[in-house]
This record gives sequence, C-alpha cells and structure tokens, in this order.
Amino acid sequence: MRIEFNQFDEETLNKEATLMTTGNGYLGIRATHEENYRNQDRGFFVRGIFDRTVGTEAAELVNLPDITELELRINEEVFSLNTSRITNYQRFLDLSTGEFVRSLKWQSQSGDWFRIINKRIVSQKMKEQFAFQLIVEPLDTDCTISVKTGINAQVSNGGNQHLIERDLRVYDDCLLAAEYETIESHLTIGLAMRLNKVGTISAKNRKIQTSIQENCQKNQRFVFEKVGYIYSSLENDQPFDSVKEAVNEEISYEQITEEAKECWSDFWAEHRVVVDSQNNFDQLALDFACYHLQIMTPNDPQFSVAAKGLTGEGYKGHVFWDTEIFILPFFLHNSPSVAKSLLQYRYLRLAGAKEKARKNNYQGALFPWESALTGYEETPKYAAINIRTGKRQIISSAIAEHHIVADIAYAVMDFYESTGDQVFMDQYGKELLKETALFWLSRGVEVNGRIEIHDVIGPDEYTEHVDNNAYTNYLAAYNVRAALKQQVGNQELQKQFEEFLDKVYLPNVNDDGLVPQDDTFLNKPVIDLTKYKEQAGNQLILTDYSRQEVIDRQILKQADLVMLFYLQPNAFDFKTIKQNLYYYENRTIHDSSLSKAIHAIVAARIHEAEWAYEMFQSACKIDLNDLPHTSDEGIHGAALGAVWLAAIFGFAGITKGEILEITPQLPKAWNQMQFLFCWKNEKLTIRLTQDTILLMKDSEKELPIRIEGQEYLLKQKLEWSRK
Ligand code: BGC
Repeated sequence: MRIEFNQFDEETLNKEATLMTTGNGYLGIRATHEENYRNQDRGFFVRGIFDRTVGTEAAELVNLPDITELELRINEEVFSLNTSRITNYQRFLDLSTGEFVRSLKWQSQSGDWFRIINKRIVSQKMKEQFAFQLIVEPLDTDCTISVKTGINAQVSNGGNQHLIERDLRVYDDCLLAAEYETIESHLTIGLAMRLNKVGTISAKNRKIQTSIQENCQKNQRFVFEKVGYIYSSLENDQPFDSVKEAVNEEISYEQITEEAKECWSDFWAEHRVVVDSQNNFDQLALDFACYHLQIMTPNDPQFSVAAKGLTGEGYKGHVFWDTEIFILPFFLHNSPSVAKSLLQYRYLRLAGAKEKARKNNYQGALFPWESALTGYEETPKYAAINIRTGKRQIISSAIAEHHIVADIAYAVMDFYESTGDQVFMDQYGKELLKETALFWLSRGVEVNGRIEIHDVIGPDEYTEHVDNNAYTNYLAAYNVRAALKQQVGNQELQKQFEEFLDKVYLPNVNDDGLVPQDDTFLNKPVIDLTKYKEQAGNQLILTDYSRQEVIDRQILKQADLVMLFYLQPNAFDFKTIKQNLYYYENRTIHDSSLSKAIHAIVAARIHEAEWAYEMFQSACKIDLNDLPHTSDEGIHGAALGAVWLAAIFGFAGITKGEILEITPQLPKAWNQMQFLFCWKNEKLTIRLTQDTILLMKDSEKELPIRIEGQEYLLKQKLEWSRK
C-alpha cells in the first residue's frame, strides 16, 4: 500500500507533493522536500481558513506558514538532491499507516557516506498535531551536523498575501510559537513547534527559526524531531494560548506515529475495497482513492470538502457539487455520520443560498456554484484568456449552472433513504428540500402549458446557456417530488409542487432513440474528436477552437445525460441507456476528471464490463499516471470519489432503491472483490466473485435484497451462485 517515487526528478516535484500529502481532514501538508528546489510549491492548509485579499475576486484557502522547510548541513556542506552522489533513494507514502518517508544515502564532497531519513506524520487522534523526524547517520566518519528550520510565513497563494504576523514567541530555546491573523476574514491562527534539541533562535522577515549544531560520531544517529500544532479562531477562542499549552507536552514522533497507525488500521478494516485483480494497480488505485477521501474530508458540519481537498491551491479550496455527488456516497456507505455533516454544511449555509436566489429574483435557495466558508457565491468571474480573442474568459457557472441545487437535494434523499435517519430529515432535510424545491418552482417558465427550464448549464461545461438540459430538468423534478413526498410546506405549496410535476418537461427519446441533452444539442454540427479524446483532461480542444465554437458543436466535456443515467438508473429502459451511452460517449472528450468513472458505471450497467473496466482504469490514472504535471495544483477529489463509485455501483452492480439490488458485473481481470456497505443501519459484508455472491451482517433482522432481479431475505448470511 505505497505511493512511491524512487527517483529524484525536479520535474515531478509538485505532483509528488500532491499525491503524497499527509493529513486528517482538518489539516493537509503537501509532500514537499525539506530543501528548496526551483518551482517547488509548499502547501499547508487547514479546512475553513479562507481569506480574500484586496483586489481578488474570491476567497481562497490560505496557504499557511511553512513548517516543512529544513536546511541540513553536514561538515558545512549543504545537503541537496541536486547532486549525483545519491544512492538508495526512496520516497514513499505508506497508505496503511499514513507515514511519509524519504530515505537515501548521500556522499559528501570529501567522499564520506551518510544515511539520511526524513519522516512525516499527521496525527489521526489529535487533529491539530503533526510531526517530523530527521535521522542522519554518518557511515564513514565523525561529523558536524547543522539544522536550520522553523516556521516560515514568507508564503502566499500564488503571490496573494493573506497573513499578518501578530506575535512570535520562543521558550526554552526549543519551543517556537507564532500568531497570525488573516487580512480580510480576521481569523486568528496559532502555530507552534516543539523541537527535541536546543538551538539558537532567530526571528526575522516573517521567519522564526532555530539553528542547531551537533557533533555526531561514525555509525551513531543524529535524531531531530519537530512536533507541531495549529489552532484557529474558527473553533477556539484563544488559538495562540492553546498552541502554547499543547506544545508544552513532550511527545515523541514515535508515539504520534503509533497512534496514527492504529487509527489507520481501524480505517482500513472498515473502508477498504479489496479486489483480487490480475492488475495490482487496481488495488493501489482504490486504496489511494480511499486514503485521499479520508484525509480531504472534515467531519464537522461547519466545513465541507474542497475540490482539491487539502492538497493544493487549485480551485482556491472551494466546494462544488463534487462533494454531494462524487464524494459523499463513500462516507454514506462507510461512516454515515460524516455524510450527515457534509449535508449539515449546506443546511448551515441556507442564508447565502437564499440571498443568491433573492438577488436573482428567484424563490428558495440557489446554492453557490463554488462555496467556501460563508456560503456566499465564490466563483471567480474570469477564467483563462481566450486564445482566439485574447480576452479573459467569463465563467458562467455561477450564473447558470443551477443543477447544484438539485444535486444537494438528491444527496439529502440519498442520505435519508440509505440510513432511514428521520431525525436528520426532520431537523435538516425537510428545510433543504423545501427551499431547493421552491427555487425550481420559480426557476421554471411556462411555455404553452408545459414548464421548461431555460438558460442553464448542465454538468457538461462545454455546452452553455441552453434550454431544457435533460439532467437539470429530471433532477429538478426529482427535487420537487422529494419535497412533495416529505410533505414540506403547507397545502398551498404542496399543490404548487404537484402542478410543477404535472407540467414539467422531461425530455424523452426522439424518433431516433436519442434523448436530447437539451433543446439544441442534437442540431449542432459534429466533429471528429479522436485527437482530443486521446489527450483527455488537457482541454486541448480549447487551443484549436474558441469556447463559443466548442459550445456550438456536439462536444461534451463530461458526463451529462450519462450522469443522469447514473443517478436515475430506472428513468430510462436498458435499450435507451445503451444507445445513448454510445452516442454521447462518442462526443465526450472527458476533459473533466469527473467523467470517465461515471461512464464506467453506466457501461457496467448495460453489461459492457470490459469497456467499463477500460474507463475505470483511465479514471484511476487521473492522478496516478506517468505525466509530470497532472496534479500539481492538487488532487482530483471528485475523480477519486468516482473511482470508489465505479467499483461499488459499477462492478459490484449495486442499485439503491426501496430494496437494495446487486447485479455484479466484475471485469474479467477481477476474480473477487469484497467490501463493507452501510445500508439502513446495517453493515453488510459483500463478497463477489465472477459467479457468486456472499452477503453477511451481524443482526438477525431480515433485510430484503434483490439479486439479478430475484428477491431474497438476508438474515445473517446469504450465499448466491449463478449456477
Ligand atoms: C468540472 C465541474 C467540477 C469542477 C470542480 C470542472 O472542470 O467541469 O463539473 O465541479 O471542475 O472539480
């Protein structure tokens, strides 16, 4: 269970830093090298610490003062990997323990060899705690070792400064503490580190540092440790006092690692999807996905998951529909309370959503396309420069990508139906359903007796400002139907819901068997996309065509109608799904990382397991690939969620409804898969082979299950075989 890079390469530094991030849902530390290298982006993030600097258009997740940098000198020679005298180089993240390690042998100018090991762990028990260890072992000679390290606030988000240094303190020559305040959001941050060695402290230019010097004899070990803490005013009245108190306690790197190992071992016992595949990569990709899903997700209703988790500055740390549709199900079926807290995050931000609706003359709640701490719209106005016009490209998602409203309602119902949690529904769900449904009542327009939804962007962001996007209309109807079913609002409102449902236009198959993605899509010209599909994810098409030219053609960035097929498996018949999957996939570049795995699920459902497997494998390679820069700005959170979705809802063939259905579609390469699945307060163990299904649970309560169309009652154990 390792992600490893066993060759030093300056080209892949930032990708490595992202992929091997250590964290715990509260904080994330990019896996940067201790030494500085050209273009290496350090990153330290705490969920919820957002700030907006003057002149910038959106709040961003603040890149916090660096605690990883360390200058090492041996006999006055500065250690660097930019030397050819390195052997036994290993750099890896152990997914089973959460520990990140670099180990190597280095030869100094004088010809002597040294073993150098750097280790890093983020506590899983005390979310504000993290630790580093450096071991130097002179193999040939005695030496003098110097270390310079501390807290470095000379950091920014791509040049944007977010922090004012309020206070710096030094105690006992081995405790460093600093207090910061964010410039616009006025959050206070306390950051402190305990060192296991006494040094000379200096504080200058937003850096508080210790310089330690020690002699070390041949074959002895120099062991240097830093244990750090970070608190913020988001959950603590006196963050500076709290870090100072925390750092007083002596605790070793080893102790923190032991505790973390235990937590990770418990995590894997509950969350791992175990596959017996001919391709070992499949297991690694699934483990990698589960690891990152866990470290990107705060278990706290005040916060949600950023598109890049806590691994980088990409998307400014904002929350998209990625959370509810791609990431939440992993928690819903593994640790439902975390899924609940993600929905509470939206509930607690109803004020911002209602204000956005009101400002745009709608009723109810229009959730922002991009959300941060406050819940108000955070989508930047502009994206990249348009290569044709030379002008900055307007981002229209905040104006028209309204499906997010129904996506949130969908997740509310998904949670409720999967857990049966009536208290949640009464306390949070109903209001969310009511306000989102109200939005759709006002968003629809009546045209010749039918309700249409005009001027939207569906999930496919290469198609803009269209009428009656099928995904949006079906999800809006689902949203309103859910509100009706849950009997939210008074009788008058219930009547309005009924009327909406009677009249809403749900695009259906045309004479050619196609479901139109929207009113105009099928009339647009088609171009050969082979070249762009081969380079999926690169948005290469935008270098050959202007955005408008892309919009005016049958070109999809990502699953749109196919997304609808995934979320509403029973809305269309098998034949329609099959024909439309082929039609639309052919026109989809998969330039969004959210696309391939969803296609894999729908392909598996139409019994195209091998095609599904191909798409699953390329989805697994969105971060885990040989290209140097695909993940520089952070992990693809939704894509990792979707890898898990593809395994469970694609290959294991689970369909949720009143009754849980299992129609496995294991690819040929998979002999077996096994996982736990929380469903209606039960925890099922599900083990599948090409021809058998084994279901187990602890309680004696009878649970109806449909297997390949036939209904069974599961008590504690059910064995099913195809023969
Ligand atoms: C995708 C969106 C997604 C966003 C954040 C965009 O490229 O088109 O669907 O929500 O990235 O991941």
